[in-house]
Amino acid sequence: MKIIAYGIRDDEQPYLEQWSKEQGIEVKAVGDLLDDKTVDLAKGYDGAVVYQQKPYTAAVLDKLAANGVTNLSLRNVGVDNVDADAVKRNGFKVTNVPAYSPEAIAELTVTQLMRLLRRTPTFDRKQANGDLTWAPDIADELNSMTVGIVATGRIGRAAMKIYQGFGAKVIAYDVFHNPELEKQGIYVDTLDELYAQADVISLHAPATKDNEKMLNDDAFSKMKDGVWILNPARGALIDTDALIRALDSGKVAGAALDVYEDEVGIFNTDFGSFDAIPDERLKNLMKRENVLVTPHIAFYTKTAVKNMVQFALNNNKQLIETGKAENEVKF
Ligand code: COI
Repeated sequence: MKIIAYGIRDDEQPYLEQWSKEQGIEVKAVGDLLDDKTVDLAKGYDGAVVYQQKPYTAAVLDKLAANGVTNLSLRNVGVDNVDADAVKRNGFKVTNVPAYSPEAIAELTVTQLMRLLRRTPTFDRKQANGDLTWAPDIADELNSMTVGIVATGRIGRAAMKIYQGFGAKVIAYDVFHNPELEKQGIYVDTLDELYAQADVISLHAPATKDNEKMLNDDAFSKMKDGVWILNPARGALIDTDALIRALDSGKVAGAALDVYEDEVGIFNTDFGSFDAIPDERLKNLMKRENVLVTPHIAFYTKTAVKNMVQFALNNNKQLIETGKAENEVKF
């Protein structure tokens, strides 16, 4: 058995080598992402392990299949960048890693919320200029707030536990109700109810055709004045222009964004200076002290990266050996 792994970063390499040695399976690590330039490298391999934020296009998937590789294992959870028609047409088996560390995402989400609520970015700036005063940067307390969780999958539930640990009231909206949470009476019936009640909105939904730009002008208008918005999920969930308007009007008190609508090609790139970042809307957000932008790093912990690499390799091995895998994604 031979596996090719695309887009392998230096921080992933040791985990890949450890797995390959322990399993006695050849894994070819390629630094480049899977695209039309690199797809032919897969010839002769039994499966491919991949991770990238840019699309897995129909053209690339058709070529991969023509190269004889239809066992495709993603090292991440989201599958919104995979061309579903090409998957079905070519008979691909696709796996993801649904739980490499839900806690990693949840912990960064709440960390950023606490930074916003306690105004630490402002105090950091003031202190760097020798200003050790308090006013006017008086803070808010999470324990007296209602947090509205959108989607109660693994990440939403991990975040929920932390919010509850802080003493916040948690409500949630999801089309699928988790039986345990249902018993606790956590669910509201509609997003409108969640918008009306929540002081903090914590997004944990995958991106689908149905929820694209779900936080738009209309949604913001239904929220409490001074609501806090957290998005560690997918940039497509928020209409960025509407968010900017809501920040300008004060409707939204602040936001923590680990994802951004147009992040592909921008996040995880060093532009050398702030001015050189080629996205004015993003810079508009980044300049605000009440908006914390991070470049899709919520997943970026040692535990998560190890699990992403090794669970994806396990999935790919399972697909190659049995034609099935427990983390197979149905398109
Ligand atoms: C995912 O797992 O889908 C993520 O969003 C994290 C990714 C950037 C590795």
